[in-house]
Amino acid sequence: MATKELRGVGITGLGMYVPERVMTNDDLAKLVDTNDEWIVTRTGIRERRIAREDQATSDLALPASRQALEIARITPDQIDLIIVATCTGDMAAFPATASLLQEQLGVRRGAAAFDVAAVCSGFVYALDVGAQYVATGRYDKVLVVGAETMSKVLDWSDRATCILFGDGAGAVVLQPAPVGEGILGAVLGSDGSGAALLNIPAGGSRAPLTPVLIEQKRNVVFMKGREVFRFAVEIMGEAAVQALESVGMTPGDVDLFIPHQANTRIIDAAAKRLDLPPEKVFVNVDRYGNTSAASVPMALFEAWQSGRIQPGDVVVTVGFGAGLSWGANVIRWGNVPREGDLRWTG
Ligand SMILES: CC(C)(COP(=O)(O)OP(=O)(O)OC[C@H]1O[C@@H](n2cnc3c(N)ncnc32)[C@H](O)[C@@H]1OP(=O)(O)O)[C@@H](O)C(=O)NCCC(=O)NCCS
Repeated sequence: MATKELRGVGITGLGMYVPERVMTNDDLAKLVDTNDEWIVTRTGIRERRIAREDQATSDLALPASRQALEIARITPDQIDLIIVATCTGDMAAFPATASLLQEQLGVRRGAAAFDVAAVCSGFVYALDVGAQYVATGRYDKVLVVGAETMSKVLDWSDRATCILFGDGAGAVVLQPAPVGEGILGAVLGSDGSGAALLNIPAGGSRAPLTPVLIEQKRNVVFMKGREVFRFAVEIMGEAAVQALESVGMTPGDVDLFIPHQANTRIIDAAAKRLDLPPEKVFVNVDRYGNTSAASVPMALFEAWQSGRIQPGDVVVTVGFGAGLSWGANVIRWGNVPREGDLRWTG
């Protein structure tokens, strides 16, 4: 096969959706022995969104995806590939949530659809995977979604974990762009020796669910918080620097840093290591908690919508999480017109 020139890959549409129900720290204090002051000082989280009982992950992914398609001005039948990054898929093992989203969204039969399982690093991984397909010319329109209903896999009696997470979805559309614009590069990494630090022990082939395992709460999030914290602080800066180096840049070139929204202390420590002032760091963990794979696309959406990202800006996203896993994307922002924006040229 003849080698083809790689194409540029741009983000041409973005969307976001969170469930209506807000759960504040005071609400949590009625469930477990905690308080607003402890949660705010240790994590920066003030509230999070919680899905309804009848809302699955694809139900959050759907409105976020519709919005991203609308902004990209494309219709569902034009989508070639759907990638959903999630660790809380609609069904325990299969089918892929991406296939379920395909049906809900009305994407044509024959389009490709699969999930990416890299937990809180999921969107950063999925964005890089999607970008490869567009860069090589295999696909022209790729929908990349990060969506989670973490509330369904939490132990609501464990104050060390249930205070941290929330539900939500974010989506982007990838399309060909001029070379030098859009997704410039990425770094992805994993260290399976840290798998025991953060996981859901039962419910997979290692320990299929039994009433006893459920009774022992082995089917919900288990975490060694302090160890994960140490890993996170280190890897955030490291991944960002490596991704920037891969495209010949340094932290000094960054206009906006979009870190995985897990904890403001982790974000602050990483920003300090990268020598980035607060105005170059996007934070919304206070309103949504840690939404796992949805956190980076939700932050990207809000940063863009609020005008914190301008055409030409260098944006760096970083994800980290269970696996252990991590990743970072470097993006030179194109021109995605906001609603009512004068740059909207049709
Ligand atoms: C979870 C985390 C906030 C805990 O903060 P910490 O400063 O490490 O706190 P510790 O776990 O050392 O606990 C300190 C004390 O607070 C208590 N505590 C834990 N959760 C509490 C809560 N929600 N409310 C009140 N007290 C709490 C602990 O029981 C402990 O009490 P003790 O000293 O009497 O034993 C922090 O470790 C963290 O953010 N880790 C990373 C988690 C993460 O981001 N995971 C997702 C990665 S994708």
